[in-house]
Amino acid sequence: MSSLLRFCTLVASVAVTSALTVAEINGNKFLSPYNGQTVSNVSGVITAKGPDGLWIRSTTSDKDARTSESVYVFGRTFGANLTVGDAIAIGGKVVEYRSNKDYVYLTEISTPVLERKVSSGNTVKPLVIGKDTSNPPTEQFTSLDGGDVFAVPNNVSLVSVANPVLEPKKYGMDFWESLCGELVTVRRPTAVAKPNSFGDTWVVGDWRVTGRNGRDGLTMTDKDANPETIIIGSPLDGTTNPKTTKLGDKLEEITGIVTYAFGFYRILPSTALKVTNSQQPTLPSTTKILSSGKCSGLTFGAYNVENLAPTSAHLPSVAAHIVDYLKSPDLMFLQEVQDDNGPTNDAVVSANLTLSTLIAAISAAGGPTYAFTDIAPSDDQDGGQPGGNIRTAYLYKPSLLRLHKPNPGTALDATEVLPGPALSFNPGRIDPANAAWGASRKPLVAQWEVVGKGGKATGGFFTVNVHFGSKGGSSSIQGDARPPVNGGVDDRQAQAEITANFVKSIRDVSKSAHVITAGDFNEFAFVDPLTTYTSISGLKDLDAAVGIRPVERYTYLFDMNAQQLDHMFVSPSMLQGGKKARYEHVHINTWVDAAAMGPTENMLHSLAGTNDTNQQPMGLQRPPPHVQ
Ligand SMILES: *[C@@H]1O[C@H](CO)[C@@H](O)[C@H](O)[C@H]1NC(C)=O
Ligand SMILES: *[C@@H]1O[C@H](CO)[C@@H](O)[C@H](O)[C@H]1NC(C)=O
Ligand SMILES: *[C@@H]1O[C@H](CO)[C@@H](O)[C@H](O)[C@H]1NC(C)=O
Ligand SMILES: *[C@@H]1O[C@H](CO)[C@@H](O)[C@H](O)[C@H]1NC(C)=O
Ligand SMILES: *[C@@H]1O[C@H](CO)[C@@H](O)[C@H](O)[C@H]1NC(C)=O
Repeated sequence: MSSLLRFCTLVASVAVTSALTVAEINGNKFLSPYNGQTVSNVSGVITAKGPDGLWIRSTTSDKDARTSESVYVFGRTFGANLTVGDAIAIGGKVVEYRSNKDYVYLTEISTPVLERKVSSGNTVKPLVIGKDTSNPPTEQFTSLDGGDVFAVPNNVSLVSVANPVLEPKKYGMDFWESLCGELVTVRRPTAVAKPNSFGDTWVVGDWRVTGRNGRDGLTMTDKDANPETIIIGSPLDGTTNPKTTKLGDKLEEITGIVTYAFGFYRILPSTALKVTNSQQPTLPSTTKILSSGKCSGLTFGAYNVENLAPTSAHLPSVAAHIVDYLKSPDLMFLQEVQDDNGPTNDAVVSANLTLSTLIAAISAAGGPTYAFTDIAPSDDQDGGQPGGNIRTAYLYKPSLLRLHKPNPGTALDATEVLPGPALSFNPGRIDPANAAWGASRKPLVAQWEVVGKGGKATGGFFTVNVHFGSKGGSSSIQGDARPPVNGGVDDRQAQAEITANFVKSIRDVSKSAHVITAGDFNEFAFVDPLTTYTSISGLKDLDAAVGIRPVERYTYLFDMNAQQLDHMFVSPSMLQGGKKARYEHVHINTWVDAAAMGPTENMLHSLAGTNDTNQQPMGLQRPPPHVQ
C-alpha cells in the first residue's frame, strides 16, 4: 500500500519535468516514457522546418543508437522567427500522435513554447544512412512478428501495447523508429516501386539490400519483405515529387527528415525527387516461348485484364500485349473480365460483347481469331467493381483446342469429376454455393482436347482459372498490428482448400491427368493458403519447377515490394518423362510508369500480371490534416 502511494506521488512530481534531453523524451522504445507530460528546457538545434512545425536535434548525444537524438516540434506558427541552425530551449507537451488507429504513433512535442534562443548559425549535418548509422535491417520488421510478417494468425499484438525495446540492428521498423525526427541523407537512391498518386516513392540507398531483382527492384521472398526500404513523402519546400518515376530509376541524393505518417516510416525530403537515369530497355523483350501448334508444344498465358469492359481505354493495349509480347498463346487465362456494359449496375451479366471486342482487337493487332468460353456469374455475387460482374474467362485457338464434350454449367451449377476423368459440366464452376467464396470469383474449370490431323483429338488436359478473394482490409506492413492483418486470408485459405481438393479429385481418378491451374491467387507462393494448395492438390509451382530465381518471381508492385500474386501450378505429369516446361514473367506492366500502366502480366510455357485494385492501398489514404 505504501509503495503504491509513493509511486503515485512520484508520477505527480514528474508531471512537469525539467531539462530532459531529446533522447530521454524519445526513450529506447516506440512510445515515449514521457507521453502526455509537460516538459521544459528541452534544448536542440533546428535541423529543418516544415509547414506545420520544425525538427530539433539534441546537442548532447547519449550515444545510444536506440534513442533518436531528434524530435518533431508540432506547432503551425511556432518558429516563424526561427531558422535552421538556431539552438533553442523549448517547453511543451510530449504527445504520441497518429491519424488512424491502425498506424504506429509518432512522438512529438506539441504546444511548444520558446524558452530561450541560445545561439544561431550552428552547422546542421545530416546523418548519412549506412555510414553515420548502422545499415537498415534487410528482412524482419519488428520483434513482434514471430519471424514472419505474413504469419497466420496475425494481429496477435500491437506495437502500441507491447512497445518493445528497439533493436535497430535487427528489425527495420525499430531502425527507422530509432531515427524518427532525424535529418538524414540517402546516397545513390534507387526507386523500387512506382510512386502513388501523391508522388510518394519507395527507395533504397547505397546500403546492403536483399532481394534485388534484375530491374533493381526488391522482390519479396519467404520471410524477407524488405524493411531496408523507405518511402519518400512530400517535400518540405512545397514542391511535388514526379509521378512518372519507374521501377529501378536512379535518383539524385535525398536529404530529409525521418518521420511516420499514413502508415509508414518515411523521409520528408528537403525538395522534390529528381530522376537521373532509367533502366534500359524501357520495355521487356517479347516472350521466346512459342507454340509448336501441336500437343507437344502448347503455350498458355495468364493476364489479369483489370476490369475490362468493351469500352475500356486499355482494351487495345491488352490486345497488343497478347499479340506482341505473349506471342498469342494457344490458351489464355483471363481474370477481371467485366460484363457487356462494364460497371453499369443493371441486370446484364453476359460478357460476350466484352470478350468478342477483345478478340476482334487481338485479330486486328495481327493475332489469331480466338474463341472464348466463360460462365456469367449471378448478378452482383462475385465481388469487384460494383455492377462489373468480373469473372475469369478463357480465350483459345479453335483450330488447335476445343472443349471436351462441351456442356457449360450455369453460375449455380457445381461441376463434378466423373470417371475418365471428365467433368459433369464443361466448363463449370467449382462448388459455387460454398460460403467460402463469399463475394468473390468461383474458379472456372474446363477440360480440353487438342485437335490433331483430320479433327481427331490427340491429347487432353484440364485447366482451372482462379481469381481468389482480395487482400482488402489488410493493415499496413508498418502498422500497429503485428504481424500485420493479411486481409481475406481466411477466405483464401478456404478457397485454396476447395480448389485443391477439386484438383486432387481429378488426379485421384488418373495420376496422369494433366492439370494447369493459373490466375490471380491474390497471395504469395510461400504463404499458408498456397502452401496448403500445393500440398493438397499435388501440383507444382511452375516458378520453382523451371528454376526461375526467387527474386525474379514477381507480377506486381505493392508498397516497397516486387511481389507475385499471379501463379501457374501444374500437375507433375506435365513435367515428367522428358517433358520440359518453360515459363516466363513478361513485365509489360510493372516496368512502365504508373500513367502508362495497363493491367497485369505472367507466361506456361506462361504469362501473368496485375493493377489489383482490390488490394488495400493502406498507405495511399490521406487522413484529415494533422490537427490536435
Ligand atoms: C536548462 O538546461 C540547461 C542544460 O541544458 C541548464 O544549464 C539550465 O540551467 C537549465 N535551465 C533551467 C531553467 O532549468
Ligand atoms: C516574431 O517577431 C515579431 C517581430 O519581432 C513579433 O512581432 C512576433 O510576435 C514574433 N512571432 C513569434 C511567433 O514569435
Ligand atoms: C453468349 O455466347 C454464348 C456462346 O458462346 C451463347 O450460348 C449465349 O447465348 C450468349 N449469351 C448472350 C447473352 O448473348
Ligand atoms: C487488431 O486487433 C485489435 C485488438 O487487439 C483491434 O483493435 C484492431 O482493430 C485490429 N487491427 C486491424 C487492422 O484489424
Ligand atoms: C487501376 O484500376 C482502377 C479501378 O478500375 C482504375 O481507376 C485505375 O485507373 C487503374 N490504374 C491503372 C494505372 O490502370
